[in-house]
Amino acid sequence: MRIAIIGYGKMGKMVEQEALNASIPVSKVIDNQDVLLASSFDKDEVAIEFTEPSVCIANIEILASKGVNIICGTTGWHADVGKVKKIVNEHNIGFLYATNFGIGVNIFWRIIKNAAQIIDKFEEYDIFGHEIHHSRKKDSPSGTALTTVQILLDNVRRKRQLITQMVDREISEDELHFSSTRGGYVFGKHEVVFDGPSDTIKISHNSKGRSSYAKGAINCARWIEGKQGFFDINDYMEGLLI
Ligand SMILES: NC(=O)c1ccc[n+]([C@@H]2O[C@H](COP(=O)([O-])OP(=O)(O)OC[C@H]3O[C@@H](n4cnc5c(N)ncnc54)[C@H](O)[C@@H]3O)[C@@H](O)[C@H]2O)c1
Repeated sequence: MRIAIIGYGKMGKMVEQEALNASIPVSKVIDNQDVLLASSFDKDEVAIEFTEPSVCIANIEILASKGVNIICGTTGWHADVGKVKKIVNEHNIGFLYATNFGIGVNIFWRIIKNAAQIIDKFEEYDIFGHEIHHSRKKDSPSGTALTTVQILLDNVRRKRQLITQMVDREISEDELHFSSTRGGYVFGKHEVVFDGPSDTIKISHNSKGRSSYAKGAINCARWIEGKQGFFDINDYMEGLLI
């Protein structure tokens, strides 16, 4: 397998570094849509896409039309997931996305799911969350936060609605407040709090760098090679947990 890097920003550079560490050849590095349109791909290439929400779906469409399998790390496009599924099926490619490729975050999500199923039975605990990222991050709340919230909403029956903005009123029992802070150089911190009248349970994940995202994306590229269909990182994780 060779990796085609689409988007040569902070993540694209980290993927290049981790591919080098893993002795996986990088076939090309593309940082602009015109170059992508003019490129062709061989059968042994998998594209790893870390760009921007505003260009990501167009990139997926271009890559799919060229028959290349895709690992997509860009966040902030998931409201259009139906459109992407259609593109993937029309072109018979393999596609896998994750809002967070870090193995630790994926373990965190599984812990949150188990915890949420327990807390569902103990109504005295309220639930809220918080995330912090560096000042240059373009989307808010983070894709990781949105996945975390979805797990909570799917597993705690009394929480039905997400609030991300400032609230200058009481919140109702079915609202889940998940706030975001942007500043400094924080790689990514996510915390879920189960707060009861007598005690507090906190589960948090704190990222120490971007390398875990790049390693996860490369491992998923190995996994998607030769596959067809629309996948997310849970499909890859299931295989590790057998
Ligand atoms: N899924 C994960 O694990 C994970 C982890 C970290 C970041 N992210 C997400 O990945 C994305 C990229 O993050 P980053 O920190 O590398 O951003 P960045 O701004 O450093 O890099 C984006 C790069 O994409 C390039 N680009 C823009 N339009 C392009 C196009 N049409 N074709 C090819 N390249 C294009 C830009 O020139 C830039 O170099 C963001 O959406 C971020 O939220 C996801």
